[in-house]
Amino acid sequence: MSLVQPHGVRRTLQPLLVPEPERAERLARAGTLPRIEMTSRETSDLIMLGIGAFTPLSGFMGEADWRASCGQMQLADGTFWPLPITVSAMAEQTDGLAQGSEVALADGETGEIMATMRVEERYRIDRQYECLEVYRTADPAHPGVAKVMEQGEFNLAGPVEVLSEGRFPQQYAGLYLSPTETRELFQGLGWSTVAAFQTRNPMHRAHEYLAKVAVEICDGVLIHQLLGRLKAGDIPAEVRVRAIDALVSRYFVPGTCVQAGYPMEMRYAGPREALLHAVFRQNYGCSHLIVGRDHAGVGSYYGPFDAQAIFKEIPEHALQLRPMFFDLTFYCRGCDGMASSRTCPHDPDQRLLISGTDLRQMLSRGDEVPEHFSRPEVLEILKEHYLDLARQSDSAGSDRSGAQPAHTRDQRRT
Ligand code: ADX
Repeated sequence: MSLVQPHGVRRTLQPLLVPEPERAERLARAGTLPRIEMTSRETSDLIMLGIGAFTPLSGFMGEADWRASCGQMQLADGTFWPLPITVSAMAEQTDGLAQGSEVALADGETGEIMATMRVEERYRIDRQYECLEVYRTADPAHPGVAKVMEQGEFNLAGPVEVLSEGRFPQQYAGLYLSPTETRELFQGLGWSTVAAFQTRNPMHRAHEYLAKVAVEICDGVLIHQLLGRLKAGDIPAEVRVRAIDALVSRYFVPGTCVQAGYPMEMRYAGPREALLHAVFRQNYGCSHLIVGRDHAGVGSYYGPFDAQAIFKEIPEHALQLRPMFFDLTFYCRGCDGMASSRTCPHDPDQRLLISGTDLRQMLSRGDEVPEHFSRPEVLEILKEHYLDLARQSDSAGSDRSGAQPAHTRDQRRT
């Protein structure tokens, strides 16, 4: 048996990264081109294109693909694609651009030139349409919607040649892997069925349970962490990587689990993002995607199982990858073990469920987190992180007010 094939009719990975030896010369030429600054979301999508994670896309979408991906979850040629991948610009930046001209795409935060694009199209976007179709809301308080609303008024479209992967190869050496690399790893391990566990959080017992149930069914599990930008309050990737490392090294059988990270930024698009997760996990070589409760959700914009329901609305052959659905999972005192709403017959008050907000508060106060919610090694790392945050906010407060020294309050807190 072999791994699932990459997405799209060609069934081969299509990375858009220019080979290393040619980059210096291309970069020098890119420096002479008109320059478009990308948002952090656009930069992270560009890197996904570069490493072939968004196969079969050849660049940022033109109007027909944009409209079809928003409205019908497909590209204009009928290929399944659930979410628009676009780059925007302000009118004044695009006015003089002739069709077919080249531009340099730069990371708007670091200024680094990341790619060149041949501009085949420039079109005005209907942000309201995009948000209502993709996010099911146009509420600017939704963090994904806010980014669409802040975009330039035009999209530029055309094929890209990617010249840099930004900070990821250095910052996450060993963890940041391309689809070609994960496929090689899986093949080396003799795996053909692989479940992807998408995560943007440290893994507690419920997450561990989902990943381990998947190992019972598949040859292995890919714990696939998002390394791109998150909303304020989410755990930064550096801390989460250490916490997941601590869990995997002590509680997983070697050879059943691969850890990797991908450079995309979270959109919090719930159901639509779950489908995009499925598309690119197939490119990474995964036959299954774990979809649990409130996958890729935020606030109460989506029902807890909307991200599962949407898989039943897509055409049967849209993907080779299959979703693996899970009900709400937890530790249950009555079961004396991990269980889910499907398997636990006990009263809900026997279940150990802690919201993210409550957990954050417990950790930053240095309170004990109830046993069985999380492995102690994971909690240690998180506690340290929240205490650091509390110290930083204390010292920022005392800098402003000139009040009590930070260390006095730190002692009281711990
Ligand atoms: S997210 O990217 O989907 O937002 P998160 O790290 O919160 O990431 O969740 C990872 C995966 O675990 C998702 O598929 C999510 O639905 C699932 N999940 C998280 N907690 C639970 C839980 N208690 N019960 C069932 N599924 C869960």
